Amino acid sequence: MNTGNLSTEALHFARQVLSNQVAHFAPGIYTRLTRRTGRGDAVTEPLQVVYYFLECFRDYQEQLDLPGDAVADYLQGKKILEYGPGDTLCMALLFYAHGAGQVDCVDRFPLSRLTANNIGAYYHLLNTLPAGPRERAQSAFKHKNLVSSGFDPAAIAYRVTPDGLAGNGGSYDLILSRAVLEHVNDLEETMRDIKRNLKPGGLSIHKVDLKSHGLDRHADFDFLTRRPLVYRLMYSHKGCPNRWRVNKYRELAEKVGLRLKTLTPTGRLAADKVEHIYPEAARHFGNISPEEFSWLGFWMTLEHA
Ligand SMILES: C[S@@+](CC[C@H](N)C(=O)[O-])C[C@H]1O[C@@H](n2cnc3c(N)ncnc32)[C@H](O)[C@@H]1O
Repeated sequence: MNTGNLSTEALHFARQVLSNQVAHFAPGIYTRLTRRTGRGDAVTEPLQVVYYFLECFRDYQEQLDLPGDAVADYLQGKKILEYGPGDTLCMALLFYAHGAGQVDCVDRFPLSRLTANNIGAYYHLLNTLPAGPRERAQSAFKHKNLVSSGFDPAAIAYRVTPDGLAGNGGSYDLILSRAVLEHVNDLEETMRDIKRNLKPGGLSIHKVDLKSHGLDRHADFDFLTRRPLVYRLMYSHKGCPNRWRVNKYRELAEKVGLRLKTLTPTGRLAADKVEHIYPEAARHFGNISPEEFSWLGFWMTLEHA
């Protein structure tokens, strides 16, 4: 495999180790310097942001097998926890608009702020909603329909916590995340957090993106070939992918007492590309078959075992 010029690689390594330490000791500064939104660079305009979250909401509906007219009945009064909302709480606002009783959001990084862009996105979102959900969404703000007054925490709350964990005492009907679990720094602890906070009979739904998030250097999935210690030195504090593959999620779900209700791949890397990487990379990821190694992402629904 082509590994590139040695001095370029050494410089790249040094830069990544250094920025990893900045992220470790000053996560707020790191997120501001890197201007992270959580959605990638392409989705930043308020209207694009709204379309992105409307699509996310439809995806959750699909995972819950809820057609449009059933969603309000299902969500009525439900208490929801969202991990890693990113820089806006649009997802929470949509769930609240459609009937959820309360939505709590928890993150490891302080990304969500009431910027002009986000205020614009919330107003656009309100305008896309039919009258009933719109009125409910307006009441999620401290002063009804005055987005700049911020969210009423009794409706939508946002917390930044060590390791992005919700902690003890929550009792949620629905626990959600999208493009988050692949970033968490301690997947086992996050899975325990889910188990601890999920009501009996509740559901936990996650979309996990197993792609490299721009960390491949020379070939698809070559970010998986780095040794775990080297990778940790470079990326462990920046919210970069933790690289765990689907076999780890299965193992941890069982370990913490959760049952996998559904597990569905969202795409696969082509077989010839897998063949290229698998011999060198798979040894870092336990007992994984080439087929599961090829997964580019998945949807997972968990419930109490
Ligand atoms: C790629 S963004 C996804 C944002 C949003 N869910 C979306 O779909 O646009 C990843 C999110 O996970 C958060 N995150 C990273 N590590 C986390 C952790 N250990 N616990 C909770 N959230 C975390 C990031 O701060 C960010 O908000």
